[in-house]
Amino acid sequence: MQTKIDIEIPRYRLDTMKIIHISDLHVSSPNYQPEWGKKVVNFVNSQNPDLLVITGDLINEGHIHEYEMWEEYFAQFNVDNHIIVPGNHDARNDGWKIFEEKIGPRHPVWENESVVIQGIDSSEPDLDDGNVGRHNYSKIRETMSVKGKVKILMMHHHLIPIPGTGRERQIPADAGDVLEIIRQCGIHMVISGHKHKNWIWNLEGTYFISCGTSTSRRLKGNGYPSLMIYDIENGKLLATNMNLRDNVLTKKLNVTLNLD
Ligand SMILES: [Fe+2]
Ligand SMILES: [Fe+2]
Repeated sequence: MQTKIDIEIPRYRLDTMKIIHISDLHVSSPNYQPEWGKKVVNFVNSQNPDLLVITGDLINEGHIHEYEMWEEYFAQFNVDNHIIVPGNHDARNDGWKIFEEKIGPRHPVWENESVVIQGIDSSEPDLDDGNVGRHNYSKIRETMSVKGKVKILMMHHHLIPIPGTGRERQIPADAGDVLEIIRQCGIHMVISGHKHKNWIWNLEGTYFISCGTSTSRRLKGNGYPSLMIYDIENGKLLATNMNLRDNVLTKKLNVTLNLD
């Protein structure tokens, strides 16, 4: 049964930028919950975000028929802009090559007058482990050298362990070096997925935001499927979590970022 969403998130002002972040949809998995999938589409379309951000695990095993399922699902979104990075499940079975053909570059960049986003493919073919890779460091430094914008790094894997998700594994092998680059570049937000649990850490002024899965039943304990909403205006960030099972919105951050 489809649940109607009647929650409205007002924009601060007309020039506020609204980003919606979803992750780990796994549309081809037996654990994909179609009711939540429909709810995500309805909610995103109702909010008319300036940008839809997806941090990987679109599908389950990287096969072409699964990517076709993803295309069918994704076509339901009525958004002008999107940016997507692959997850470990998308990269399986050489699926990263199909990702490049059907979805786009694995290290995409998106920028407007308010924000700059560098996407990184943190997956390794047929491994669940994460790795950013030294070859990507100069790319991150260059994109994140801008001033006066909110700087966002996005990747599938988490750089900092997330409580309640079992013993740590699969964190990018070079997480320490990447964390140091993030600090040096003054990156404001690092957004990710993979652990299927919504969580936020603040380290040295950077917010590390794990979206949680938006549509998979592979949850942690009594966890819930979720998405994140980021309203950004002149360096002010309002981050809101939506619990897609219970239709509950929770304000997570209301902060002013240093754009110098
Ligand atoms: Fe996942
Ligand atoms: Fe994953």
